[in-house]
Amino acid sequence: SKEGYPHFMLKEIHEQPLAINSTLAGIEEGAFNKVVNAILDSRKILIIGAGTSYHAGLVGDYLLTSMLGLDTHTLISSEYRKYLNAVNDGDTVIAISQSGETIDTLVAVRAFKERGAKIIAISNVIDSAIPRESNYVLYTRAGPEIGVAATKTFTTQLTVLTILALKIGVATGKLTTNEYRSAMDMIGKIPGLLQNVITKTEGKVKALSEHMSKKQSAYYLGRGIGVPLSMEGALKLKEIAYIHAEAYPAGESKHGPIALVEENYPVVFSILDDDNADAMLGNVMEMKARDAYIIGLVPDKYVGKFRELLNVTLEMPSIDYRVAPVIYIVPMQLLAYYTAVARGYDPDKPRNLAKTVTVE
Ligand code: F6R
Repeated sequence: SKEGYPHFMLKEIHEQPLAINSTLAGIEEGAFNKVVNAILDSRKILIIGAGTSYHAGLVGDYLLTSMLGLDTHTLISSEYRKYLNAVNDGDTVIAISQSGETIDTLVAVRAFKERGAKIIAISNVIDSAIPRESNYVLYTRAGPEIGVAATKTFTTQLTVLTILALKIGVATGKLTTNEYRSAMDMIGKIPGLLQNVITKTEGKVKALSEHMSKKQSAYYLGRGIGVPLSMEGALKLKEIAYIHAEAYPAGESKHGPIALVEENYPVVFSILDDDNADAMLGNVMEMKARDAYIIGLVPDKYVGKFRELLNVTLEMPSIDYRVAPVIYIVPMQLLAYYTAVARGYDPDKPRNLAKTVTVE
């Protein structure tokens, strides 16, 4: 049931602190250890997924590549052929699918398995097709997701991927035991932080959605781990509010996309507490110079620096960039939700989309 919420999507957005807590409580050390060992034995890691699961994969890729220096490649499941020749015996493929039934991902799993790769599934549905055909499984424990747009399954996928990256880090000596412990402590704080962000931003986002509902197009910009985060924010708006939304790395604006920006064009910036904050300030200024309508998700410690330039400031906690996507996506989910409602659409049942895509 919707438990008093007008839509499943809103209920599921609000359920995220609980879904993450359940996922943390359900972590099976044995299963993680096997996965870590398989990864240590392989030369290359491929990550595959479709839609939101692909975006989760890109966040995981960022951690494995930039934090651990592992040879990681992330691809959209239906594009698996590009890598068939690049996979060797014992390489690992992480297949991400909340439903565990997405045909594109299943087909790619079969093809890579035939090449000798070991498959690690990350799924929310126990014993679904992809986990059944995989060598190892890590489950998210988000509970059933009814809304077509993935919300709590995404944030729990990010939780599992971040823990996996930390465990690989400590196993390879890239992270000290102390670094590992303090990062795990930080993960334990996510549900509480996320609850605060919902409480603090929901009213403001709802007011913003009235404005957004009249727009035809929007940009979502970030740098670093903020790029896949922005891609996920844009997908949410597109799929349920039917507003064209595009995400790209903020540094690319001047290489083309800024040509489209005119007065009041909406741009959503995800500014993180990382090495990119100064460069992001420059990117916000270049949009300001075109009189864009700028929405900024800003860590509290930088609010003073950015507020003047922003039309709407959504204050985020100043947290380690490695866990920022889990927190930052929530106001963007809410923005998509309230914008869809303001436009008169049912966010639970977007046109042309099915919850599980079982035809190629
Ligand atoms: C977006 C969405 C889809 C799915 C995609 C993969 O909100 O729900 O993009 O993420 O169809 O689905 P799974 O994770 O079940 O393989």
